[in-house]
Amino acid sequence: MIKVRTEEEIALLRENAILVSKTLAEVGRHIAPGVKTKDLDALAAEFIRDHGAEPGFLGYGGYPYSLCISVNEYVVHGFPSDYELQSGDVVSIDCGTVYKGYYGDSAYTFGCGELSAADQALLDTTKASLYKGIEAAAAGARTGDIGYAVQSYCEERGYNVVRELVGHGIGRNMHESPEVPNYGRRGHGVKLQAGTVICIEPMINQGVKEVYLADDGWGVYTADRKKSAHYEMTVVVRKGGAERLTTYEFIENNK
Ligand code: MF3
Ligand code: CO
Repeated sequence: MIKVRTEEEIALLRENAILVSKTLAEVGRHIAPGVKTKDLDALAAEFIRDHGAEPGFLGYGGYPYSLCISVNEYVVHGFPSDYELQSGDVVSIDCGTVYKGYYGDSAYTFGCGELSAADQALLDTTKASLYKGIEAAAAGARTGDIGYAVQSYCEERGYNVVRELVGHGIGRNMHESPEVPNYGRRGHGVKLQAGTVICIEPMINQGVKEVYLADDGWGVYTADRKKSAHYEMTVVVRKGGAERLTTYEFIENNK
């Protein structure tokens, strides 16, 4: 069952999306060598609650933190910890909120200090592939069109797409139908209708596409331990292309 949202529902999802976007920017301002990732988690939880919302990930399926912080070879679902960030680390921050009964979900991969040119290229390519996926998410298109757009962009540049985790619908639950893979074939998959709200979230590896699950039961890391990046936006399917509900302007324009 794939929901088509009213504009009232979209407005509530947008409120969540903006708060998640601001939280990512707040966390990003604190990313620096020597900072413990668990301190980023604490400040995100406080920031979300100060805005009258709750962290969307905390307790979700038993997840024990407010953020997923996935460093270097970690793809997603990394636990915040006593680890101190180092210059050159690739730091994926994934954040969720729940507010007025609806969820927000967005991720951004930051560089800590100075990144190598190769690592910066991984980040730039992954983010650009997200925008390609968003452009493909027009009413009447299919989820395979989104996946094809992401996959072809990344593979042409020598990167590989993680298969085990996918994007998703979002609403009163964080994960709703449809699944939105970051790989696929044009014209295949679920047909998208105007008003459906989805999260598109490419997870892109420098090396092989295969991943392993960490002993903590959550963390996902690359099989060859090369680096991975992850960007995620919540968008509404519209005629001609998707409208972004989340935004990176608070991160990138230093607001
Ligand atoms: N953005 C992630 C996802 O869509 C967040 C889920 S992490 C969880 O899967 F811990 F909350 F489960
Ligand atoms: Co998500």
